[in-house]
Amino acid sequence: MKVTQGYSGTQIALHWIVAVLIVMQFGFGDAIATAFDAASKGEEIAFNPMILQHVAGGALILLLGIWRLKLILTRGAPAAPEGGKPAAKILAKASTGMLYLFMLAMPISGSVAWFGGVEAAANMHNLGKIFLMLFVLLHIAGAVYHQVVLKDNLIARMMKAG
Ligand code: HEM
Repeated sequence: MKVTQGYSGTQIALHWIVAVLIVMQFGFGDAIATAFDAASKGEEIAFNPMILQHVAGGALILLLGIWRLKLILTRGAPAAPEGGKPAAKILAKASTGMLYLFMLAMPISGSVAWFGGVEAAANMHNLGKIFLMLFVLLHIAGAVYHQVVLKDNLIARMMKAG
């Protein structure tokens, strides 16, 4: 992977758009969970725009997530900040990798559950949401740690293109 001076404007925009979309998936997941439960019992599902929001929002996350991955591989990303404990660096790298994994695995498992009616995929989706939530929280905790404890203003790298 190429090491760059900073993230591009596209990379920064994608980061924040996907972050908002992921929060929305958590906030508006109730309707699809209720509908999936009803469908599993063979009941009729009434149209609900919140279901459409979850499906379309998830599909967008998948597409934008692939785009992000492509940019990381082709354009690159800035190096890890100087200093810091080696263990913290490994944790940061591993948790970012996990975020990417779950960002892509969630829409895939959700689609298999919803369009294929596969209960096992729904279970994976429900387990995945806990892991995704944990990695998002770890990611935010890392950003706050840099800002408040290390005071290196790392967040600026995700605000201004470089
Ligand atoms: C990154 C993308 C996604 C995230 C973060 C996400 C997140 C969530 C969350 C948090 C729930 C639980 C809602 C609750 O219990 O109140 C849920 C349920 C569900 N989602 Fe997603 N979702 C994503 C993409 C998708 C996509 C693309 C589809 C379908 C095309 C989908 C289909 C479902 C289904 C069927 C359920 C109900 C599962 C069940 O109740 O067993 N999801 N999702």
